[in-house]
Amino acid sequence: MRTYTKDITTEEGKSVELLGWVDTRRDHGKLIFIDLRDMSGKAQVVFLPSDKELHALAEKLRPEWVVKATGTVAKRPKGMENEKLPNGFHEVTATALEIITEAKTPPFDLGSDGREIGEEVRMKYRYLDLRRPRMRKNLRNRAKVNAFIREFLASKDFTEVETPYISKSTPEGARDYLVPSRVYPGNFYALPQSPQQYKQLLMVAGLERYFQIVRCFRDEDTRGDRQPEFTQLDLEMSFTNQEEVLELTEALMVEMVKGLYPKKTISRVPFPRMTYKEVMEKYNSDKPDMRKNKNDPNELAFLFIIDFPAFEWKENEKRWDAVHHPFTRPRVNNVEDFKEQFKKDPAAILADQYDLVLNGYEIGGGSIRIHDPALLEEVFEAMGNTREEVRSKFGHMLEAFEYGVPPHGGIASGLDRLVAILEDEPNIREVIAFPKTGDGRDLMMQAPSEVSQEQLKELHLKIEKNNGTKEKTNG
Ligand code: AMO
Repeated sequence: MRTYTKDITTEEGKSVELLGWVDTRRDHGKLIFIDLRDMSGKAQVVFLPSDKELHALAEKLRPEWVVKATGTVAKRPKGMENEKLPNGFHEVTATALEIITEAKTPPFDLGSDGREIGEEVRMKYRYLDLRRPRMRKNLRNRAKVNAFIREFLASKDFTEVETPYISKSTPEGARDYLVPSRVYPGNFYALPQSPQQYKQLLMVAGLERYFQIVRCFRDEDTRGDRQPEFTQLDLEMSFTNQEEVLELTEALMVEMVKGLYPKKTISRVPFPRMTYKEVMEKYNSDKPDMRKNKNDPNELAFLFIIDFPAFEWKENEKRWDAVHHPFTRPRVNNVEDFKEQFKKDPAAILADQYDLVLNGYEIGGGSIRIHDPALLEEVFEAMGNTREEVRSKFGHMLEAFEYGVPPHGGIASGLDRLVAILEDEPNIREVIAFPKTGDGRDLMMQAPSEVSQEQLKELHLKIEKNNGTKEKTNG
């Protein structure tokens, strides 16, 4: 039966079977040592010269070969212990060895933390890059964050619901990724920039408390804190208000840090709150870093920004746009009041809209929504949509809201950003298994890539090459 390397200390004197990768091989005179690595850690395996056949086999071993090593767990000889290692007082004296697969020499060092290696090569061989302990730790801790969130929200009666990934464009201010329909020529699905509309429709459906750990897709330039696909903890509640959303978010963050990151301290609880106006006047930024000591990786300075303006002027489009998204409720009494205030000064209208900032990063944003269909329609029109455009783009929301919609609101947290900060990583790519490079490519899978003429034909697409000449495709 297999033993994980982390468990050998409890097996002293017994025979164990280890499965994993050769991390390193060291020849000390007649003795050969390998560090055998599995998902739980490493163990030192010693090959003695007395068993000539076994010793000769061990001599062949190279880093990253996959092996099965059988042997007896023993205390390391005096003076050979290494108290810094979890298995530093034990080793396994080999009695048998099986080489399962051989490996080419990796293109870079897997033992270091990897920060010194160029991104291109790390991404091309991401499956090797992920073998380094730092990356494995990041992925495992990220999974613990997910598990914690699920348990926390389930205990508060939230239902986790999956919403579609191929759907209709939903406005979150970025460009959509489009998916051509094979069955409906010339028609497209869009990958959701967020589940915003679906979660609101789940409120119409009477779910009352929804959450989802969900992928979102936005065709925008990749940066250190931005990926074209990223993960949100998305949630929505009915019969709620700003205070309840903020308190729930704060409780989740505080409990998570306490439970999973006990070495970290939160600068201030309750989290401080500043209005958008205050924060811009004081810091000229809507995501100031509030840490007392910016060099302390264990300090977490959360900040809620509240009272955002509902609308902003888009000079290049010559129209007013929603600061957050058009479903956010402006603080007005009714449609008439909205019309009056919008006519007077659109920039002065505030909204129940909030951001959560952590150590200088925006890690969450949300709002209380418009639930009056007449007001929703009016807001869409105020932002430059004709009545027909509103009906074709958002008719389904307006119609749904005519069947008994509860007041509702919610928030979405950027999980990649949150985990990156908790793991002391400067870049969200370090906490995503297979991220895109800075220029939006997957170097390992070679994406994006061209597709076959047959695929294009099925999708009723023709590619127009940059030089203007049309590619000959389908009829
Ligand atoms: P918003 O657009 O503010 O709100 O997104 C919520 C949070 O998601 C994170 N985020 C990103 N993380 C990595 N890469 C990106 N490209 C990226 N874009 C956003 C940020 C941000 O705070 N539907 C609304 C939420 C709501 O109203 O409930 C929404 O998506 O941390």
